[in-house]
Order: sequence, then C-alpha cells, then structure tokens
Amino acid sequence: MRNKNIDLYFFSGTGNTYQVAKKMQEVFIKNKCTVNLFRMEKIQPASINTDNTIGFAFPVAFQSTYPFIWKFFSELPTVNGTEVFVVDTMGIMSGGVIGPLKSLLKRKGYYCIGAKEIVMPSNFRKSQKSEKKIKEISAKGIFDAQIFAHDLVYNQTKWIRIPFLSDVVKSVSSSGFVWNSLKKHISPKLDEVKCIKCGLCYRLCPVDNINMHEFPDFGDNCQYCQRCFAYCPTGAIYFKGIKLEKYKNAEVNEVLLEKKS
Ligand SMILES: Cc1cc2nc3c(=O)[nH]c(=O)nc-3n(C[C@H](O)[C@H](O)[C@H](O)COP(=O)(O)O)c2cc1C
Repeated sequence: MRNKNIDLYFFSGTGNTYQVAKKMQEVFIKNKCTVNLFRMEKIQPASINTDNTIGFAFPVAFQSTYPFIWKFFSELPTVNGTEVFVVDTMGIMSGGVIGPLKSLLKRKGYYCIGAKEIVMPSNFRKSQKSEKKIKEISAKGIFDAQIFAHDLVYNQTKWIRIPFLSDVVKSVSSSGFVWNSLKKHISPKLDEVKCIKCGLCYRLCPVDNINMHEFPDFGDNCQYCQRCFAYCPTGAIYFKGIKLEKYKNAEVNEVLLEKKS
C-alpha cells in the first residue's frame, strides 16, 4: 500500500462485516496508518475522497451482494490510480463476486491492491449452529481479517479473479429476474400483536423500505439484509415464505443508522 491514509467503507446487516472492518481498522492503526470507517448506506458514492486508499467491506448475498451495494459501486467516481481493496463476508461461498467487482473498479481507473473473502457465521439460516461453533467461526473470520489488513500494509495481498464463471454467476444472481422472484416468494411481515411501535426497524433499514405509520409498513424493496429481523426487540418481524433463525454479531448501536428525521 503506497498511501497509508485509508478510508474504509462498509455495510453490515447483522454485525459480521462490522467486526471485520473494526479489526482491520485496529491493525491499520497499529501499523501507523490513518483510517476512517464510513457506513456505505450513509454515503453518496460520487462524493468519496479519492485521494486516500479506499477499502470496501460488504456481505455476500445470493452469490453476489445486495443490489444497493452494487449500485454504490457502479456510482463511484472515475479516478486515476487510487488504490482500492475489498473484503466480503459470507456464510459458505460467494460465487466469486470479487472478480466482477475488480473489473468494474479497474474500468473506473482504480488500482486493485487486494481482495479477501472471509467466512463468518451465516445470518441466513433456518436453524443456527451451536453458540460455540458460531463463536469459533466468527473468531477465525476476524483473525483472517487481521492477517489480511497486515498483508495489505506490507503489499502481500492478491485479488484473485475467476474469469467467465464469476461473471456469469454475478449477472444471474444480480439480475432483476432473481430479485423479482425472491420478492414474490419471500417478504418481511409484521406481527402487530408483538410490535411495540418503537420504530427501530424504520431506523435500521438501509434502503428506506420501512415507513412508520401507526405500525411499521414494509415497501417492496426489501433486500433481506436481516437487520430489522435481527434487532426487533420483541421478535415482531418475520419473513413470509421462509422461516429463519435470528442471528447478530454486534449490538444494535454498532449497526444503527443515525435517526431519520
Ligand atoms: C439474503 C442473504 C443471502 C445470503 N447469501 C449468501 C450466499 O450466497 N453465500 C454465502 O456464503 N453467504 C450468504 N449469506 C450469508 C452472509 O453473507 C453472511 O452471514 C455475512 O457475513 C453477513 O454479514 P453481516 O452480518 O455484516 O450482514 C447470505 C445472507 C443473507 C441475509
């Protein structure tokens, strides 16, 4: 890494990516870098500071990532050689999403210095593993993040791209067809008896898909990041079409957006 001033942009639905970003920040600081963490859902991509080294951290979703994260990447400004690295977190496998992302960033003029895919506990499961297993997977993932950050500082990283296959997987998994079919089969719902009208779900939603009337009201742009489901204090939110078990790896104030006006 030539430029040791780092801006790390991340999105985390349930805390895994937050833990990874936080550990990387710690390692960068120990290695005499300056580093700022920014939440992707609060930033206009066109306005980012392209004088610094840039990092992106995001969760894998359906062998790709959430459409709003892809939108963020596609709206990044073009540059002349700004260093960039990425890290994604996933339950099992990503479909090689870092490959098409590398192509996009290169086309925009970024210098791609390293990418890492980190296995963390899945936040999209019908039944969860034991607490012990979850802690082990999380600890291993955070350790991998630590090594990756260290390797970035000392220029030991790679950005592997599986040609063709990863592009096909990305274009299928990001296609409107896939997301529209998901919407038909899986949608967030509210149990009004359990809901205490606290508005936390409204504040947590990264894509403004929840409006607060008397009760929270879901629009049709849910991207299934799991935040509202994971942090609802009374378990009033559920998904029609799939029965999921709750998972979170950070406290609510660590993933919470600033209060909306
Ligand atoms: C809607 C959805 C789809 C997912 N799809 C995948 C997937 O295709 N492959 C995978 O390995 N993990 C998948 N996961 C698991 C997450 O990528 C993983 O748990 C991630 O670390 C969550 O990060 P976060 O806690 O920062 O939101 C999915 C999770 C969600 C909510």
